[in-house]
Amino acid sequence: MDRNVYENWPVLREYTQDKEVYLLDASESRKTLEEIESLYEFLFKYQTVEPLIAIGGGITGDLAGYASATFKRGIPLILLPTTLLAMCDSTVGGKCGVNYKGVKNYIGTFKKPDEIFICTEFLTSLPERHLKSGMGEILKYGLIGKEPILPLLEKEISLQNLQARPYVEMGLKIKIDVVSQDFYDRGQRNVLNFGHNIAHGLEAVYPNTLTHGEAVALGLLAELRLSEELFGLRSDIRRQTRSIMERFGMMTVVEDLPVEKLLDYIKKDKKNDDSLRFTLLRGAGCPEIKQSVAEEWIRSAVVEIME
Ligand SMILES: NC(=O)c1ccc[n+]([C@@H]2O[C@H](COP(=O)([O-])OP(=O)(O)OC[C@H]3O[C@@H](n4cnc5c(N)ncnc54)[C@H](O)[C@@H]3O)[C@@H](O)[C@H]2O)c1
Repeated sequence: MDRNVYENWPVLREYTQDKEVYLLDASESRKTLEEIESLYEFLFKYQTVEPLIAIGGGITGDLAGYASATFKRGIPLILLPTTLLAMCDSTVGGKCGVNYKGVKNYIGTFKKPDEIFICTEFLTSLPERHLKSGMGEILKYGLIGKEPILPLLEKEISLQNLQARPYVEMGLKIKIDVVSQDFYDRGQRNVLNFGHNIAHGLEAVYPNTLTHGEAVALGLLAELRLSEELFGLRSDIRRQTRSIMERFGMMTVVEDLPVEKLLDYIKKDKKNDDSLRFTLLRGAGCPEIKQSVAEEWIRSAVVEIME
């Protein structure tokens, strides 16, 4: 269980009084094979065949997913997501893994959770920064899918008053639809990667500084600009996205972006082959996967997120 969740929710402490709990300090720097090894030690100590119940955000889910997929060649997994990002996105889809040598999610596998319980009440203790972070993935669903997420977000007064449930449901609907067609990510599932090539590069360039969702939101702005370059996408979609982000107080620029270093990390992305492969938007709700992108276009697109 995520330690912050454990500390914020007395009901969980009471319920787990007589149970074995592995408390996790969720951070990207702990999403490693070393953490997996210590999870194995915990599971080995109790020789468990019981389901592993993971309560926390995307980091907890990814680590628990990988450990449960590989321990004894697989034990059951139950997920209780506690962040907006995990509720609308990472809890479904079965991808799980860890970072390796500073590169995001480089070691991993697929593991379908046996059960998922979503309780948006957990969001009442989630720090605002992580609410904004979850909004990064929700915006992505608004751009790649047909659900009316962006027009609804435009009408929201503030992030604090936002009722998350409809957005969680719309995000999950799109993700489940995509994943059910391509669970092992051999093609169409790449649509979920929109914004993520640049996001993963940003996370590597600013380790432990940007959250995943912050990086995704910035990645969306830059990859919308790339989509304008490649497909002539209407620039008002980027302006609409940026204006929602600004109204919610989300980060829209980074300081001192080392563009060449960012490019080096983007080149390490798992989805590349002989060229850099991005998912880009041909139109609202029309993502195109595996688009070859030239380095110069990336250099000019990231100007969008540079201060
Ligand atoms: N497997 C997938 O398909 C997938 C998809 C998207 C993202 N991810 C991964 O998810 C991770 C990001 O997940 P995240 O944004 O959920 O962040 P997270 O798991 O890091 O949690 C964010 C912070 O919020 C705290 N927290 C969590 N729930 C809380 C609550 N209810 N109350 C108070 N504090 C709480 C955590 O302790 C942590 O400090 C990244 O590593 C990313 O790569 C995976």
